[in-house]
Amino acid sequence: MQGILDEIVGHVAPLCRQGEVASYIPSLGEVSPDKFGICVAMADGEIYGAGDWQEPFSIQSISKVFSLALVMSYDYDSIWRRVFREPSGTPFNSMIQLEADRGIPRNPFINAGALVVTDRLLTLTGDASVSIRGLLRLESGNPSVDIDAVVAASEADHGHRNASMAHLLASYGNLENSVDDVLASYFRQCALSMSCEDLAKASLFLARHGVAAGGTPFLSRNQSKRVNAVMLTCGTYDAAGEFAYRVGLPGKSGVGGGIVAIVPGRCSITVWGPSLGPNGNSMAGIAALDEFTARTGWSIF
Ligand code: DON
Repeated sequence: MQGILDEIVGHVAPLCRQGEVASYIPSLGEVSPDKFGICVAMADGEIYGAGDWQEPFSIQSISKVFSLALVMSYDYDSIWRRVFREPSGTPFNSMIQLEADRGIPRNPFINAGALVVTDRLLTLTGDASVSIRGLLRLESGNPSVDIDAVVAASEADHGHRNASMAHLLASYGNLENSVDDVLASYFRQCALSMSCEDLAKASLFLARHGVAAGGTPFLSRNQSKRVNAVMLTCGTYDAAGEFAYRVGLPGKSGVGGGIVAIVPGRCSITVWGPSLGPNGNSMAGIAALDEFTARTGWSIF
């Protein structure tokens, strides 16, 4: 395994200069495109990593997996009355379908859907980003996982599009909390900073059919199946078909350049390469996962 990861890091290095580092959140634009890390956390606890796998980065939309899992853990299925679970075929920050669908977002991973999930988590816990941070600290075993206040402020300063979506959701009665509170929570959860190692460990419950780090059930087997299914169909937005074709695993990306992929029953894999393709997914990261599943044969297909 270690040899495979070391070779993958060497193979994808030339891709790190293709695409572009996200700059619509200005503080993300300061990260070097040459960074690349990969980590595999096995269901039995073994960890393998290569490249910049222990360097923290902004997890951004990967946080949406954990907010959804937390809401489902508290509230089983009721979130699905407020958000669909169909691929959107539109960019992660598109609002086109939101009005046509009368304020019900197409899935929980596009920004509009994630705002609804965060809203629900805010109601259930009183502080959505702190509850996500708590889960991530517990599952990663790293108590220093934290929210990068500079990134959160940077996004809030440039958050007109998310603010528009939140207001549109509110106009349809699909927010329980104030627009300002939902946006603040959402920006803070996206600004959580974690390494590939932290994230691979923290997402391992999805490879262990819902069983958390301490061996206790966090999600039921069925709920874990459902989160993975939504990751497969919606986790990489309008590139979900391409991701399924190349990687063959449930996956969730973020504009910080991270991607988490799950091999149910076996392992979780995290990659990080800040330079993004046109759909907002790490180019080097997808290439690395493509090579990983091709070489190991570990795919759901
Ligand atoms: O709301 C946003 O635009 C960002 N905080 C997160 C977007 C994101 O990560 C999309 N992922 N590829």
